[in-house]
Amino acid sequence: MGAPFGAPGSTCHAAGAPGYTKRHVEAAHGTPPRRVTRGRKAGKAALTARIAIIGAGPSGMAQLRAFESAARGGLEIPEIVCFEKQDDWGGQWNYSWRTGMDGYGEPVHSSMYRNLWSNGPKEALEFADYTFDEHFGRPISSYPPRAVLWDYINGRVSKTDVRKWVRFAHAVRWVKEVDGGFEVTVEDLRAKTTTTERFDRVVVATGHFSVPNVPDFDGIETFPGSLRHAHDFRGAEALAGKDVLLVGASYSAEDIGVQAFKMGAKSVTMSYRTAPMGLDWPDGMEELPLLERFEGETVRFSNGQTRRFDAVILCTGYLHKYPFLPADLALDSPNNVYPERLYRGVVWEQNPHLYYLGAQDQWFTFNMFDAQAWYVRDLILGAAELPSAAERLQHQGEWQARFRAIGSSADEVRFQADYIRDLVGATDYPEFDLDRVVDVFLAWKQDKKENILTYRDGVHTSVMTGTESVVHHTPWLSELDDSLERYLSEPAEDETARIVHGGASTESAGH
Ligand SMILES: Cc1cc2nc3c(=O)[nH]c(=O)nc-3n(C[C@H](O)[C@H](O)[C@H](O)COP(=O)(O)OP(=O)(O)OC[C@H]3O[C@@H](n4cnc5c(N)ncnc54)[C@H](O)[C@@H]3O)c2cc1C
Ligand SMILES: NC(=O)c1ccc[n+]([C@@H]2O[C@H](COP(=O)([O-])OP(=O)(O)OC[C@H]3O[C@@H](n4cnc5c(N)ncnc54)[C@H](OP(=O)(O)O)[C@@H]3O)[C@@H](O)[C@H]2O)c1
Repeated sequence: MGAPFGAPGSTCHAAGAPGYTKRHVEAAHGTPPRRVTRGRKAGKAALTARIAIIGAGPSGMAQLRAFESAARGGLEIPEIVCFEKQDDWGGQWNYSWRTGMDGYGEPVHSSMYRNLWSNGPKEALEFADYTFDEHFGRPISSYPPRAVLWDYINGRVSKTDVRKWVRFAHAVRWVKEVDGGFEVTVEDLRAKTTTTERFDRVVVATGHFSVPNVPDFDGIETFPGSLRHAHDFRGAEALAGKDVLLVGASYSAEDIGVQAFKMGAKSVTMSYRTAPMGLDWPDGMEELPLLERFEGETVRFSNGQTRRFDAVILCTGYLHKYPFLPADLALDSPNNVYPERLYRGVVWEQNPHLYYLGAQDQWFTFNMFDAQAWYVRDLILGAAELPSAAERLQHQGEWQARFRAIGSSADEVRFQADYIRDLVGATDYPEFDLDRVVDVFLAWKQDKKENILTYRDGVHTSVMTGTESVVHHTPWLSELDDSLERYLSEPAEDETARIVHGGASTESAGH
């Protein structure tokens, strides 16, 4: 067993009595007390001594921040150990040029590409306790490139000392249930040592967009061109002048498609299984139904049409995969907004000492991870009460029924907003107007409908601060430098005009 909370040998910060209430948390943060839930059985959980967080992506970083904010408010917190297999935090946002294996021989985690820009407005993902205004000190545009978003999530935690809780280059190999707790076996990738430690609670924050779902198609082995999954796509420059096939009809297909178009692909064909994205694609981009078979470089589609391609990218999504968990602890779900077997989307049904963060399909991201992390923190600290197993099942059943009744993507956004509202209401995470965030999402969807090539030039208003974003100095379609430095620079108007209207080296490759 780990040392009891606050007992000699634990690394807890001494303050307040264990088993404190939600009112204490709120008081410590200076926010007005809302509904106070007193931990009863769950209150005993405040004696918990050691917490393992697996993964230091945005979800794991949210969990670190949640505990740090409680400690900053004068509360006693348990010992936190976060294992991150990479050398830095940021998860998907910690970009790597590598594909396949990383420098330690581990599967490369990030599926992001060099020139990825946020595909949703930043106003929809903004932290309620650390705004873009606070980080950048001035308004920025609504759709920043990935390096800018990494800077933002890094900024919030770098202002604290939570990095000391993270063991980088540590890959979790196995988690085993023992006497109400867990044994966690971890490989230190630098020292090349493997150790097993005891923890009382485990938070799984390893993401679910890293292990590619790779379907087979008749004759695909005869295709002579470039063939890969979106996970291994790093940039569209090499697609200039090529006929490109993207299999799938979701965000990867959409965004890699417009990226290929931007970089001058000759044609972009997107093949859907269930339904087309149905956007108003520019000339040179089209959607066709599911492909039936490959015959060398020729692909036959289910409507009888054939096309020849130079490159194929499978944008067919990802698998929930937790190789460090036995099957009875591992989430197994399609990519949806309410995976089964998770109470309130975070507590593992069969073992409420195991939590998942960010396991949902994501309209909301960073602020949803926060709501989850704050709630998990409060369960662990005993500030939120965990209902009985029967009550949890009933609650899950009610939300599953709501989930099954979702009829449109707008409904799905509202559903996720309600889900977050439910969590925020149970914690001291700063409340924010989720209905207005839904409006931001709906405006974004409309902008995409109107023009998929220019929606990133649109501006939205922060729900947290009321700040209206600025129009970026260079339209997305013309901007070929995705760096933080370029993004934050203030180029002279004539330089921007040269880029947009035609300057030799910086002109968009094909359009
Ligand atoms: C291509 C792509 C583009 C995206 N674009 C956007 C966007 O524009 N806007 C947006 O809001 N969201 C976007 N997302 C969604 C993205 O999933 C979230 O923004 C966010 O990164 C999820 O955070 P996470 O911490 O849950 O998971 P991840 O970011 O995946 O982080 C998980 C972490 O766990 C670590 N890990 C995994 N296994 C182990 C192990 N065994 N031991 C130790 N550590 C481990 C990984 O190294 C990683 O650091 C995008 C996703 C993808 C795939
Ligand atoms: N710029 C950006 O910010 C950016 C860019 C790319 C991705 N992303 C993010 O990455 C995450 C993952 O998106 P994703 O598009 O990779 O995955 P996804 O949303 O899960 O979509 C997977 C797609 O693959 C299709 N598919 C699965 N199996 C198939 C098969 N056997 N044959 C044909 N089609 C098949 C699915 O079709 P069905 O509908 O028929 O199931 C679906 O269209 C999202 O969070 C997204 O926002 C962001």
